[in-house]
Amino acid sequence: MSTATPDAQRVQIFDTTLRDGEQSPGISLNAGEKLEIAHQLARLGVDVIEAGFPIASPGDFAAVQAIARQVHGPVICGLARANAGDIERCHEAIKDAERPRIHTFCSTSDIHIEHQLRSTREDVKGLVRASVAQAKSLCADVEFSPMDATRADVEFTAEVLQIALDEGATVINVPDTVGYAMPQEYAAFLTRLYELVGDLRGATLSTHCHDDLGLAVANSFAGVQAGARQVECAINGIGERAGNASLEEIVMLLHVRAAHTGGLHTGVETTELARSSRLVSRLTGYVIQPNKAIVGRNAFAHESGIHQDGVLKDRSTFEIMDARTVGLEVNALVLGKHSGRAALKVALEDLGYAVDGQALNAAFKRFKEVADRKKTVTAMDLEALVTDELRTEAKAWELEWFDVEASTRRPPHATVAVKGPDGAVTQGSFTGDGPVDAIFKAINAATGIDARLREFRVDAVTPYADALGEASVVLELGDPAAAVRTDTPGLLTGERVSGAGQAVATDIIEAAATAYMRALSSAVAKASALAAAPAPAW
Ligand code: KIV
Ligand code: ZN
Repeated sequence: MSTATPDAQRVQIFDTTLRDGEQSPGISLNAGEKLEIAHQLARLGVDVIEAGFPIASPGDFAAVQAIARQVHGPVICGLARANAGDIERCHEAIKDAERPRIHTFCSTSDIHIEHQLRSTREDVKGLVRASVAQAKSLCADVEFSPMDATRADVEFTAEVLQIALDEGATVINVPDTVGYAMPQEYAAFLTRLYELVGDLRGATLSTHCHDDLGLAVANSFAGVQAGARQVECAINGIGERAGNASLEEIVMLLHVRAAHTGGLHTGVETTELARSSRLVSRLTGYVIQPNKAIVGRNAFAHESGIHQDGVLKDRSTFEIMDARTVGLEVNALVLGKHSGRAALKVALEDLGYAVDGQALNAAFKRFKEVADRKKTVTAMDLEALVTDELRTEAKAWELEWFDVEASTRRPPHATVAVKGPDGAVTQGSFTGDGPVDAIFKAINAATGIDARLREFRVDAVTPYADALGEASVVLELGDPAAAVRTDTPGLLTGERVSGAGQAVATDIIEAAATAYMRALSSAVAKASALAAAPAPAW
């Protein structure tokens, strides 16, 4: 038996990038991408990974199960509504984790009870009692959330929480679901719950704040000051609508101001923050605004003469933290074109990628192609290349080659050759509004798939003229009804099947075309999985 006393100032970080974050409009991660993010979250040292919502779709279930089986260290948690089917499915998905958790929720606000659940307070109490009891019978670690709590009657919420605790809930999470609370209100709400629910002190109290008024981090911090010791947050603050509390911001707030908060701290390895942020941005297609706190490109840049002068004399004049603390050493030159396989292996290990055998050969081939065209290969180039090369998803369609004729005098024309899932190569051509439009439509013609572009973006990996181009595409299938039944689980009526893809190359047209092929493959795989799924039981 451990004799260590629990650390009262330790704040647990519950990452919901793969659940609430994945609910952001336009984000559509496949199982391989979710697994890659989960491995990085484990390296980052988060305490809990909320891996998904297993009942939502077969793809969600498979991703949660893969994370539960393959990611070691953090608690692996799945979300379930307060009903037997959800909880059973959630348990199936997470049960093989080293430390599984079921997170179940039910609204306690009258707005939700009357208008969404079309139910009554009495029924809510019954639902919570039954579902927490069921979850507890399957899993020792059970979290309960009263959804929309901050707009609910605090006395009624307290009654519901007491029921959840009576049935064995280990964590009580208080969501500010619509991002409406102000910090002092949120803190007062938690303080009142502590007064009303005696047993709450025996459980872990958690915050879950949305950013509709830009207060998610401030509210989470107020919650921690009121006694919460778990914060639910997401990398880059992604999530429903305006998003969740940003993980990197709350972690660095607690890190930088520890001396002024009585030593509140987390177990996060802060030097992994920048890399986690870039990975999530790359795989979700969600750009990080340049002035984003902690991980934005300009978060540590000093532009004005007065600031530059001060920083040159002494960094503390205008800096409250060191860029290295969050892992932002972006411009270090790591390799040149004469570097060999062994040097690449060591550089990749420094970046946290243990690569050997075939994977190392593939990464080396790719590195040589780039090093021959670029003078310098930086740590960020290498990271972009290796995550691009070592992608794990099945490639249903692949780009063989393309020709694009672009001119200011004639409309651009593209021809592409693509290899399909059966290995056959087909060609397609299109004359478009621009070279990228032409190549995307040529790919549609070659694959015979009617896909529509929803989002497209190209970024430079580094700020130099010879930078690698990183393209990101979100598209949707034009006629999902042809591939997907209308009662398909995980789809709302009228919703279309979408796919996201990213790619890195020295040529931005090539990066764009490859990203489009990946998005198309992901959407087609999702449509087939949905079409094969059993009819929903809810
Ligand atoms: O915002 C919210 O209320 C949620 C719950 C499911 C915890 O995401
Ligand atoms: Zn939420």
